[in-house]
Amino acid sequence: MKTRLSLLLCAAALSAPGFSKPLKIELPPETAGFKPGPGAELATGQCLACHSAEYITTQPPLPASFWKASIEKMRTKYGAQIAPDQAQALVDYLAHSSAAPEKK
Ligand code: HEC
Repeated sequence: MKTRLSLLLCAAALSAPGFSKPLKIELPPETAGFKPGPGAELATGQCLACHSAEYITTQPPLPASFWKASIEKMRTKYGAQIAPDQAQALVDYLAHSSAAPEKK
């Protein structure tokens, strides 16, 4: 009797509405972007294929030399398809938008 009852409960649990439905996960919409300015569109096109804008915009103010190296790393280590003539424009934008003074 006990076994039959637990089997019954088990069957009830398995057929409960929602249990066998495929799990649907909705991610929140991407809200962060780049600060508008010359080069912002380039950054949107070149930097968001692999990660969110926050990876970039949450960095502390950093000088152009950092961004140059960072873009180089994205290209050589992670395979970002950034044309060499776009790199300088991106450096300018990123260094400017983080408003970091360049240390000489
Ligand atoms: C081909 C893919 C790809 C593209 C395109 C790309 N990145 Fe990245 N980026 C990565 C990966 C992979 C990481 C490391 C993620 C991790 O460690 O979790 C990363 C991390 C970063 C970080 C965090 C610090 C670090 O070095 O790990 C910064 C800053 C960054 N990227 C900047 C940029 C900028 C600026 C651009 C556009 C010019 C860009 N990324 C484009 C792949 C890419």
